[in-house]
Amino acid sequence: PTNRTFTMIKPDAVIDGFTGPIIQQIEEAGYRIVAIKKVHLTPEEAGKFYEVHKERPFYGELCEYMSSNPIIPMILEKENAVADFRELIGATDPAKAAEGTIRKRFARSLSSNAIHGSDSDENAAIEGAFFFPNGN
Ligand code: CMP
Repeated sequence: PTNRTFTMIKPDAVIDGFTGPIIQQIEEAGYRIVAIKKVHLTPEEAGKFYEVHKERPFYGELCEYMSSNPIIPMILEKENAVADFRELIGATDPAKAAEGTIRKRFARSLSSNAIHGSDSDENAAIEGAFFFPNGN
């Protein structure tokens, strides 16, 4: 059964010119792009998206970073989409990410880690709807 995940190419990777190679790696891994756009979030919008992290010490830095420059949110479709995508992007900290993963190849650091991937089917649906309220 085909299902969906949600991703965003983050400001560091967009600025560094890695949008093309990241999308290429995602498509070569078998994902179909259901929805895609380029957006520049306000700090308030970033704060709303990351509300679950509100109590974390890095929340302020995270919202400032995610609203600093444009990002590229996408809804992706593939069998076993969520789990396979977490493997494709690698560990949150690029220094700990496996060789060949998107974060290992393209991320700058733990806080500027190139790409987001939803951690569950439920969050994929919630996060996708945040950027694409009409489904795609
Ligand atoms: P992601 O898992 O996509 O969503 C939460 C983000 O918070 C995470 O990526 C990192 O970019 C960021 N993050 C996690 N831990 C830290 C940290 N210790 N310091 C700064 N940013 C962090």
